[in-house]
Amino acid sequence: MGHGNTLGGLLARQRMDAGWSQEELADRSGVSVRTVRNIETGAVQSPRHSSLSLVVAAFQAAGRFEAEYVLRDFTDRNGIEKSVALSGRSAGVSASNGVRAGDDHEWLVGRKNDISRMCESLPRDRWTTLVGPGGVGKTKLAFAVADRLRSQFAGGVSVVNLGEKSEDHETAIWRAVCEALLSEGSPGDASEAMRRLVVIDNIEHLQTPAVRVCQRLLAEFPDLWILITSRHAVAAAGVKTVEVRPLSPVDAERLFLYRAQAACPDLDLTGRGSAVTEICRKLDGLPFALEVAALRLRSLSIDTLLEAPVRQIVAQPSVAGLPHQRTLVESVTWSYGMLGEEQRRLLHWLSAFLEAFTIKDLLGRPDREAVADDFPHLFDLVSDLVDRSMLQVCRGAEYRYSMLGHIREVIGILQ
Ligand SMILES: Nc1ncnc2c1ncn2[C@@H]1O[C@H](COP(=O)(O)OP(=O)(O)O)[C@@H](O)[C@H]1O
Ligand SMILES: [Mg+2]
Repeated sequence: MGHGNTLGGLLARQRMDAGWSQEELADRSGVSVRTVRNIETGAVQSPRHSSLSLVVAAFQAAGRFEAEYVLRDFTDRNGIEKSVALSGRSAGVSASNGVRAGDDHEWLVGRKNDISRMCESLPRDRWTTLVGPGGVGKTKLAFAVADRLRSQFAGGVSVVNLGEKSEDHETAIWRAVCEALLSEGSPGDASEAMRRLVVIDNIEHLQTPAVRVCQRLLAEFPDLWILITSRHAVAAAGVKTVEVRPLSPVDAERLFLYRAQAACPDLDLTGRGSAVTEICRKLDGLPFALEVAALRLRSLSIDTLLEAPVRQIVAQPSVAGLPHQRTLVESVTWSYGMLGEEQRRLLHWLSAFLEAFTIKDLLGRPDREAVADDFPHLFDLVSDLVDRSMLQVCRGAEYRYSMLGHIREVIGILQ
């Protein structure tokens, strides 16, 4: 991913990566085909801010965060006013219940604390991993943090997405990361004043080789910082793990209403506050699920959604994602595919617990002997399911475990 190129080259590359023709980008963004063409050929070097912000918003709306990121990066570096480049997604939209979605970070709902905590800790810890279930907002948060910290990484911020890589080959991963770094200059160049950050997105399916690559990168490039996203917690020395949790009920409603407003501007949800609360609770405050449900409002009423099984709501693609992340059903199926036989059995068994449970609840059951026989490695298995974000954990004096509703429902059909 090169930042050093022209805006036109950058745009053309991101558009082609998305598989869009110039016409399609024009359609999605609302700018004319001629404008797209003129930017790409370099006939227009400094496009109007409003055109550029629409183009950036089109990539953002399609979940092409890398494109969104590099285009904004370019505009910032080249003095194209940032607030304007951002305005496509943070335009003041007011949802029908009067919730305003206009302030600076509204496009990233409910993550202010996570961002400020990470902005403090990341410069200290050279290797940070954002961990959480698919669709919780890891990628989005990683890019937001990288964006905020850009001024502290004078050597540049590079992004590499391993989600599309299937070779679990250490060399292939190393090469992919180095290519991303090289686009910013030689990785070895970095000096103290030229710290650089690499964001490595989606490593869960390449965990072992990716961890080795990260260790090697940290050893070979003393001025390199790493931020990775994964569904699977990384067990390696020196990694700072940050859990990305679903949104709080209030933030979930804000996101839902914001997206509903965007998908269906005429829909009036005034007076439907409790239905909105209920749907957000049903979807566990998971941003991806909320986005899909909001899109569904174009065709199905909120009452229909309330009655529908979660897995039917989330079977629809939200945005153009990777094949295994196109829908939440595919995303869970993909994670499930990476589990061993015993882990799957435990997951199915635990899916019968509708409420949060403790280890004591598992061990204190009348059928505890059968449980001990069935799951002789219960602790290992529970730990593993937590590490893989298949179980959520609430850490009080006693730990309470729970399964997100859509995971429970999807694995119900994967028996
Ligand atoms: N805090 C948030 N505010 C607004 N939208 C969000 C937020 N977090 C995630 N999203 C949206 O939810 C979807 C899933 O987020 P993503 O970062 O891709 O999740 P993950 O990387 O954990 O699978 C994306 O379309 C993203 O735009
Ligand atoms: Mg992601």
